[in-house]
Amino acid sequence: MIEKEKNHTVKFSEINKLNLTDFRNHNFTSISSNNKFISIVGANGSGKTNILEAISMFTPGKGMRGAQLADLSNISGKGGWSVFMEVSSCYGTTKLGTGISNIEIKNGNSRQCRIDGKSTNSPKSFANSIGVIWLTPQMDGLFVGGRSERRKFFDKLVALIEPNHSNNIKNYERIIAQRNKVLYNSDNLSSKLLDNLERQLAKIAASILISRQIAVNQINHIMIRDVSNNLFPSAEIIMREELGSLSKDCTISEMEEDFSKILCVNRKKDKMTYRTNIGPHRTDFTLWYKKNDMYAENCSTGEQKNLLISLILAQARVYQMNNQGISPILLLDEITAHLDMERINNLFDQIFTLGSQVWLTGTKIELFDCIHSKSDFFNINNGKLTQIEY
Ligand SMILES: Nc1ncnc2c1ncn2[C@@H]1O[C@H](COP(=O)(O)OP(=O)(O)OP(=O)(O)O)[C@@H](O)[C@H]1O
Ligand SMILES: [Mg+2]
Repeated sequence: MIEKEKNHTVKFSEINKLNLTDFRNHNFTSISSNNKFISIVGANGSGKTNILEAISMFTPGKGMRGAQLADLSNISGKGGWSVFMEVSSCYGTTKLGTGISNIEIKNGNSRQCRIDGKSTNSPKSFANSIGVIWLTPQMDGLFVGGRSERRKFFDKLVALIEPNHSNNIKNYERIIAQRNKVLYNSDNLSSKLLDNLERQLAKIAASILISRQIAVNQINHIMIRDVSNNLFPSAEIIMREELGSLSKDCTISEMEEDFSKILCVNRKKDKMTYRTNIGPHRTDFTLWYKKNDMYAENCSTGEQKNLLISLILAQARVYQMNNQGISPILLLDEITAHLDMERINNLFDQIFTLGSQVWLTGTKIELFDCIHSKSDFFNINNGKLTQIEY
């Protein structure tokens, strides 16, 4: 491993082996590769995206499709599924596994996660061994779709940079739901319970706002610095916040205190509207496309895709900066479908410079012409995978 690192200008992290057992339409699929580019080619419905989804299970949450654990079990299998991978980096090789049995699904258990054979509490622990960033065709409508999906996307982006963020979001949402329930069910608007919940909310809200600000500043900085001189557009993340009179230009404890007060003042209104009207759970995100002087939602479909690519590349660079130079794994589903050849070439050049291992899918092998010497190629047919020469 150490020898390999010496030959790399950037530190590498790559999946060298991936096994899917009873995962979606894969009965058993095993992929071995030491390459930076892995291209999976096959007809619609053959099982390409399912492979990327399996890799995405090594991140906190429900993977790239946000699926229920039971839906991931092969419908012709025994119930239950597992995914195993070997990840090599300059620090050595790590074996990661995740999955769930039929009985565990029926009992409503969480999925199991193992690192080098030892059980860990949650998929969050995988973050020490692997970073995964994905771009799928479902994300094409991100800027024009519902804001909660967009917020989830941006919060995932923040979480890759600020590891406590996803936990904070989860706890914050849980307490918001509790507060809404208390407000709805009680006529006592000055209860100690509400004071207590709002104090907890204010503390987490301040951390959320700070993490978002740190991540957004870092990504924006990179998007202006690096991305402006390539074929993908220079853009800036804009946060549209609904924080009322809360100012972020103060200390954390002042922010906490202010937000606590705002929540208290808003109890009556929040009770009437059955929701908490102000807070980081209301924030929306967009991108400002500098060249067009326009927000992403008003840009063309192709421009929106290119903006997303800029964002993903910047995110990967920021991840690298924050992780001792180690590059994240990129999962690019059908990325070539809407890009012209010049942009495809430019994208692959940038990924090559970044040093990330990239898993690509496509329906036609010709779309990967420009990386034919750099990539391993696999054909997939009805969940059956074979390596091919190209
Ligand atoms: N739990 C499951 N068990 C068995 N098959 C499933 C399960 N979930 C989904 N599938 C099937 O897996 C097949 C492959 O899906 P996948 O999304 O990977 O296709 P794809 O190769 O990416 O296709 P496309 O080119 O259309 O994106 C689909 O036919 C889908 O119906
Ligand atoms: Mg697909």
